[in-house]
Amino acid sequence: MTNPAESRELTLVGPGTVMGGLMRQYWLPAAKSSELAAGGDPLRLMLLDEKLIAFRDHTGRVGVMDHRCPHRCASLFYGRNEEGGIRCVYHGWKFDADGNCLDMPNLPPEQDFRQKVHAKAYKVTERAGVIWVYMGDRAEAPAFPEIEAALLPEDDLTIMFAQRECNWLQALEGDIDTSHFGFLHAGSVQPEHVSDDNMLKYQVGNRAPAYHVTDTDWGTMYCAYRPAENDRTYWRFAHFGFPFWTWVPQGDFTDRVQARAWVPMDDTHTMFVSLTWKQMSRTPPLKDGKPIPGAVPVLEYQPNSTDWYGRWRPAANAANDYQIDREAQRNDVIYTGISYIHMQDQAITESMGEIVDHSFEHLAPSDQMITRTRRRLLLAARALRDKAVVPPGVDDPGIYMQARSGEAVLAAEDWQEAYRDRLRHVVRPTGWREAAD
Ligand code: FES
Ligand SMILES: [Fe+2]
Repeated sequence: MTNPAESRELTLVGPGTVMGGLMRQYWLPAAKSSELAAGGDPLRLMLLDEKLIAFRDHTGRVGVMDHRCPHRCASLFYGRNEEGGIRCVYHGWKFDADGNCLDMPNLPPEQDFRQKVHAKAYKVTERAGVIWVYMGDRAEAPAFPEIEAALLPEDDLTIMFAQRECNWLQALEGDIDTSHFGFLHAGSVQPEHVSDDNMLKYQVGNRAPAYHVTDTDWGTMYCAYRPAENDRTYWRFAHFGFPFWTWVPQGDFTDRVQARAWVPMDDTHTMFVSLTWKQMSRTPPLKDGKPIPGAVPVLEYQPNSTDWYGRWRPAANAANDYQIDREAQRNDVIYTGISYIHMQDQAITESMGEIVDHSFEHLAPSDQMITRTRRRLLLAARALRDKAVVPPGVDDPGIYMQARSGEAVLAAEDWQEAYRDRLRHVVRPTGWREAAD
C-alpha cells in the first residue's frame, strides 16, 4: 500500500520536494539537439516544475536557464539571441549560456553591476543527439551516466520524444508492469497466430507469468518467467534505473541496446525520451507476415508549438479518445481498438487521472516490481533529504552498464545466475567495456 503521504513524496517534483530533490542529482534528457538552431529562437522548456528557456548561441553552445530575467523577471523567451548570448528585450541586459551578465545598457557605466548578477543557468551537455541538463547545486556536475544507448552517437540511434499528460511515476510504472503486454498490446493475438520460433508464443500461450523481483545497484529488476519446452524457461528481464529510466523486456536480450526515460516536466506532464540502437533486432512478425495488430511503425504528432506544453504531443490524445476504433476492438482485430503500442500505454496511464490516487488501488502479486520500485525510490529520496546520502548512479555512473533487458529461453534454474550469464554474451555496440567482468 502506498499511503497518501508517500504518494505525495513519490510524485511531486518541484523545488523543495523529496522526489524533486532526488531528480536534481542527475543529468536529465531535456530536448532533442535538433530542436535548437545556432542563433535561432529560444525554446520554452518545462523541467521538474520549473519554467526554463533553452537557446543555442551563435557558436553552437546551448544555454538553459530560468525563463525569468534576473532584472525584473521579464521572460527571456522573448529575448534576442544575439552574438554571445541572449538579450532581454525589456531593458537590454544580456546573458551568456553560463548565465553571466554581459551587458546592462540601461545603466550609466558607473552604476553597472553586471558582475553581481547571474541568470539562473543550469549546466548543459549534449550527448546522443539530446540536450541534457543538470539542475542540482554541485559546482561540478556529476559524470555522465554510462547508460549504453546514451553513449552512442546520434547517427546510431532512433530518438523519440513524446509528451504524456500525467504524473511521471504512473507513466514509468507502465514500463515495469509486464503482465499488461498480453492484454493491452497483444490481447487479440492467439497462439495459432504466432510461429514457433517467435518468443511471443510464450506470452500469448500463458498470460499470467510468475515473477522474481530484486533491488539492484542501479535500481530494481524483475524477471517474469513461464515454462518452456524441454525443461527450459522463458525469461523476461527488465529494469528500473534511478531516477526515471526503464529497460523493457520485449525483444532479444543479446543486442537490446535501448533506454527509456520518463522525465517530469511538472507534476502532471512527463516527457518520454527513448533512445534505441538502430541495429537492435526487432520483434519478428506474426505468421501472416504482419506485426501485432495496431503496432503501426510511426507515431503521429501535433505540430510543435512554443507553448510550455507544446512539444511532442501525439495526434491521438484524450480529446479524441486516442482515435479508438470500437469496431476493431469489438471484432478483436486490435484488442484496445487503439493503434500504436506507445499510444495504448499512453491512453491507459493518462486515463488513471493526472496523478493516480494510490488509495484507490488494489495491487496484486503481479505488481511486486511496482511496489518494490516505489519503495526503492522513496528510501533513496528520503536518505538524500535526511542524511545527504548520494543516490545510486550519481557518483557511480558505470553501474547502468549492468542493466540490459530482453527475453531469452534458457535451461538455467537460478534467475540471477541466468541474467549474469546472458550479460556475459551480449553485443556491446559501444565496445565500452565488458560489463560482466
Ligand atoms: S527585465 Fe530583463 S532587462 Fe529588465
Ligand atoms: Fe505497454
